[in-house]
Amino acid sequence: MRAADTLYHIRKLLTDIGPRQTALSLGRHLYHRAFPVKYPRHPFDLQHGVDTSGLIGGRRLSSGRAHDRHITAYWGTAPSAFLQVFALWNQSLSDGPYSTRDYTFIDIGCGKGRALMLASDLPFRCVVGVELNAPLVSVARQNLITWKASAHACDDIEVLNADALEFAFPDSPILLYVFNPFDRHVTQLLLDRILAVSLTRSTPIDIIYMTPEHADLFAAIPTLQLLKQGRSPLTSEETAVDAFNTQSLGYCIYRLSPPRK
Ligand SMILES: C[S@@+](CC[C@H](N)C(=O)[O-])C[C@H]1O[C@@H](n2cnc3c(N)ncnc32)[C@H](O)[C@@H]1O
Repeated sequence: MRAADTLYHIRKLLTDIGPRQTALSLGRHLYHRAFPVKYPRHPFDLQHGVDTSGLIGGRRLSSGRAHDRHITAYWGTAPSAFLQVFALWNQSLSDGPYSTRDYTFIDIGCGKGRALMLASDLPFRCVVGVELNAPLVSVARQNLITWKASAHACDDIEVLNADALEFAFPDSPILLYVFNPFDRHVTQLLLDRILAVSLTRSTPIDIIYMTPEHADLFAAIPTLQLLKQGRSPLTSEETAVDAFNTQSLGYCIYRLSPPRK
């Protein structure tokens, strides 16, 4: 981690939680560096022979990029929650002109690629992952080699090592998958970008926002339609290996329709 990022984090902690909690948090951080926690392999990895398990804190994902300091962490989406939320999104297409086949799926912060692999079992036009951290990109690409050895509904899957804020959205209908990748500041920058891009397009931008910590920022955009929100339960096997012992994941599904001509 760069010294500037460390100082940024310490200053942010001091402002957010005060000196006592900051000292405790730094102590915990140093302890975990010295004695890293070993996470059990996720059932998804055991079933498919890939590596998507574990929790890697944002501070350990710095690789010299401008938005490093805003990364939350790496951890993979629970497959059961993903599939339930996708079924709901799919229902939302039933009375419109587009089907899943028209959509490009884009995972904003794809990490080791678990959500990409899950999405490729649905008939998307193509599946794209954007990830800031180069070592995670390598793991995701390696996983995809294993994954592509068997057939999937969509076999056009790629991973880009890029900042999600610099990624050029394709001109087809797109579904952005946002599993709480960054803090409030970058979430707002992403929303500003999506809004600006949407004004120049003739197709919708749909967004699935998992663990929607900053949903209030989304709610402040009048043209962003909230299609559905709720919580999706995990299976007991998923909860058992989850770093936070999560029982269910919150979600919001949005649609930004193109401007009327
Ligand atoms: C919570 S993980 C989600 C992983 C994956 N989407 C999934 O659902 O399995 C968030 C990921 O977003 C990445 N990330 C954070 N900020 C990013 C940015 N500005 N551009 C691209 N990726 C980013 C992190 O490195 C991390 O791998």
